[in-house]
Amino acid sequence: NKIVLAYSGGLDTSVIVPWLRENYGCEVVCFTADVGQGDLEMDGLEEKAKASGASQLVVKDLKEEFVREYIFPCLRAGAIYERKYLLGTSMARPVIAKVAMVDVAKEVGADAVSHGCTGKGNDQVRFELTFFALNPELQVVAPWREWNITGREDAIEYAKKHNVPVPVSKKSIYSRDRNLWHLSHEGDILEDPANEPKKDMYMMTVDPEDAPNHPEYLEIGIESGLPVSINGRKLSPASLLSELNKVGGKHGIGRIDMVENRLVGMKSRGVYETPGGTILWAAARELESLTLDRETIQMKDLLALKYAELVYAGRWFDPLRYAMDAFMERITETTTGSVTLKLYKGSVTVTSRKSPHSLYREDISSFETGAIYNQADAAGFIRLYGLPTRVRAMLEKGL
Ligand code: ARG
Ligand code: SIN
Repeated sequence: NKIVLAYSGGLDTSVIVPWLRENYGCEVVCFTADVGQGDLEMDGLEEKAKASGASQLVVKDLKEEFVREYIFPCLRAGAIYERKYLLGTSMARPVIAKVAMVDVAKEVGADAVSHGCTGKGNDQVRFELTFFALNPELQVVAPWREWNITGREDAIEYAKKHNVPVPVSKKSIYSRDRNLWHLSHEGDILEDPANEPKKDMYMMTVDPEDAPNHPEYLEIGIESGLPVSINGRKLSPASLLSELNKVGGKHGIGRIDMVENRLVGMKSRGVYETPGGTILWAAARELESLTLDRETIQMKDLLALKYAELVYAGRWFDPLRYAMDAFMERITETTTGSVTLKLYKGSVTVTSRKSPHSLYREDISSFETGAIYNQADAAGFIRLYGLPTRVRAMLEKGL
């Protein structure tokens, strides 16, 4: 029998290859999804996989699919978890699991899949819920929940014993996850929420204090809630995002430091770098202020909370998520236009927004004139609108 392992080349997955062969006696096919984790991680991966004992390494470039079908819908929905987290890792798991499973397991004739997530995290849930949703017959092996390797130090020992190249040095021991949308840091000194992250931990963004002393303006073009251009230049989803990561990173945009509630119940401290995503999020919300009416925005924001929760919890392939996307698509049909942002030392400030579908009318809203809006109408409006307030006050005063 054969097993497909979601493989990153990191420590967590490197020791799994010899372990699966030893304990399950199966052929191990490694699978790596390119979701924009960068050349450093992708380089020399095949040699590494084979050195660990894999029969082959399958690599698929999922960058455009990931941005177009996972990231952009979340962006359009306004999904944000616990007020801060832009869901970078959460969005990547379903696309990796889907391709690893639907395509690769079928391609190589495997009957089982495996991943390197610990038994304490969210990622295991995201992988396995995707497996369940798309092929409930696949057997799932999660070594971190089975073996007696108890921590990273232990894993390093095991790797050394089995002649597996160890990818992390002992001093840089953060648990990181990188893709086109973000880079997450967990572990080491971050495990005490009172510790400030070290300056040299960050990889996608410069320290805002060291960012350029002059602001930079960017115009983001949006069509029906989805980003399409930068400064008038049309770009594919993945290239648009990676360009914004560069500009945003240069200005120190998108650093988030938070304590979050994991699905498995514990709290966890994480630091995220989401430069391009932070810019796009600001632009998308801003354009909605022109194109959506009050109650639509309220309903959309309510659903966005639930949407984020589903994505965080690995429920990407639930009917509810699809249905919410249908709502989001419909409601943002007219969210087309552009937003100009000013980037400066870690901040993103909106300076301009325009839309051919704008509900804002200067001839109504202006302090100067107003032919359509008659100020005298407001008196009657306020009397009726405030009627319950007056009735209650009358009751309290015995009137
Ligand atoms: N806490 C974040 C999440 O649950 C990031 C997880 C990072 N994963 C990792 N394997 N390092 O989405
Ligand atoms: C892991 O435990 O594999 C990483 C953290 C997470 O999944 O939340």
